[in-house]
Amino acid sequence: MSATAQGPEARRLRARLDDRRTRELQKLTSLLQVSQALSGTLDLRPALMEVFDALARHHEAVGCLVALLNRDSRELSIEAAEGFGRSGHHTPLAAGDGVIGRVIETGRQVVVPRLSLEPTLAQQLGLRTSAAADERSFLCVPVSIDRQPVGALGVCMKFDAGRNYERSTKFFGIVASMIGQAVKVQRLVVAQHRRLVTENARLKQELREGYDFSAIIGNSGSMQRVYEAVAQVARTNTTALIRGESGTGKELIAQAIHYNSLRAKKPFVKVSCGALPETLIESELFGYEKGAFTGAQDRKKGRFEVAQGGTLFLDEIGDIPLSTQVKLLRVLQEREFDRLGGTEVVKVNVRLVAATNKDMEQAIAHGTFREDLFYRLNVFAIFIPPLRERKPDVLLLADHFLQKFASEHGKDIRRISTPAIDMLTAYHWPGNVRELQNVMERAVLVCDGQVVHAHHLPPTLQTAEASGTAMNVSLAEATAAYERDLIQDALKSARGNRAKAARLLRATDRIFNYKVRQLGIDWKRFK
Ligand SMILES: Nc1ncnc2c1ncn2[C@@H]1O[C@H](COP(=O)(O)OP(=O)(O)OP(=O)(O)O)[C@@H](O)[C@H]1O
Ligand SMILES: [Mg+2]
Repeated sequence: MSATAQGPEARRLRARLDDRRTRELQKLTSLLQVSQALSGTLDLRPALMEVFDALARHHEAVGCLVALLNRDSRELSIEAAEGFGRSGHHTPLAAGDGVIGRVIETGRQVVVPRLSLEPTLAQQLGLRTSAAADERSFLCVPVSIDRQPVGALGVCMKFDAGRNYERSTKFFGIVASMIGQAVKVQRLVVAQHRRLVTENARLKQELREGYDFSAIIGNSGSMQRVYEAVAQVARTNTTALIRGESGTGKELIAQAIHYNSLRAKKPFVKVSCGALPETLIESELFGYEKGAFTGAQDRKKGRFEVAQGGTLFLDEIGDIPLSTQVKLLRVLQEREFDRLGGTEVVKVNVRLVAATNKDMEQAIAHGTFREDLFYRLNVFAIFIPPLRERKPDVLLLADHFLQKFASEHGKDIRRISTPAIDMLTAYHWPGNVRELQNVMERAVLVCDGQVVHAHHLPPTLQTAEASGTAMNVSLAEATAAYERDLIQDALKSARGNRAKAARLLRATDRIFNYKVRQLGIDWKRFK
């Protein structure tokens, strides 16, 4: 064993080697952490924060940031930052992005050993580095995708005259290249997701276009979903259950399912289960043989048989008695039944569509509806939202009914006045579309001009909020409201021209202007 190997020189060498090994190990450990952080999530910001954390813990970073170029606007913004004055998400960088901008532009790293000598950069980073003890260094390396710089990683460290900047930037360069990979993957995923969303919307649109929903009015998001559901179920033989409050249009949807299906040319048969007395419902559904009961003089086909090849619509299914529910379950399961008083088994090829406005879950809980039958019916459920939850449809429907009834009653009514529109939209429509339909038919009947006014609408809609009048107003107040309504409407038609508006109301200019002043109407806003 040589003496030199034991000497101080050898010990120093060994210590240096140990030191280097520790540093290398530390670097590898951090790189592993960085890679795990970046691959663990597609959400870039939290991943970057974890990376910054590793750099702070093991690599003396006192501040880190990643700035990225926006691909479309080419603007530079901070994606994530830690330890600087600013640390907001997507904070745009101030104009003339100095050092960071230069790194991205040239694709080359920049080292600023003393930040105090670069006050613009220090300010940009939200740092004050005046005191010598506070002196910082700033290292900035490009983040690239396919060799193209798309951003930069900036790291702030305490100033140390003996620091090996080359070694540090090399290491941060490796971290930046890993960040580049993560940005690339994230952008690919986002782009793919966007493509899929557009594709999905296009396919849905295509699917819908192949169907005819012209009888159903409504463009709201929730109705769009109803159309999609109808399009999905129409071409199948699946049993569908339509749910929704009374008057929401369940029957219309049931018809849409039938007429958009392959059974469209076969019968659509409706049975109103709620309207039939318990004793009649079975003979109605399944028919009977001659002599099955007193009065059964001839054999009668039931609705199931009449609907053969087509669709049987069981409306108000929640109202059928338990005994009939058992028989219905058999038809659904075995696609066959017997006529009353008959022995012959009748096979059926019928698609069932049922509708109800009842709370079926509660009916099951109360034992008035069989759970097994419910599940057989509820194979494909379509829920029609109440009208008050699809406000954009109210006006579309009101206009539709206005045209329909005006032409039915041979009246030339062109539009609905603004105050009337306000009332229609403010109302909560407990009776849904059916109620709106009735309201519009009444309005058409009582309307004596070309415009439906607020006073053509029924009193239920005349809430204080909607019409500006309380229910128990005086005659004077009610007349003033009526006058205001007429005058505003005339001003609207005349586009704020008072003389023209006066002529429309067959009033003199003097009286018209007097009324405008008296009622405090701002005629200028109609110009
Ligand atoms: N979206 C719509 N577009 C046009 N008309 C509609 C629409 N929804 C409903 N209607 C009309 O409103 C009326 C009530 O609709 P429908 O009879 O289908 O309601 P329902 O949900 O079956 O009500 P109920 O539960 O009381 O039987 C019908 O005259 C129907 O034509
Ligand atoms: Mg109905």
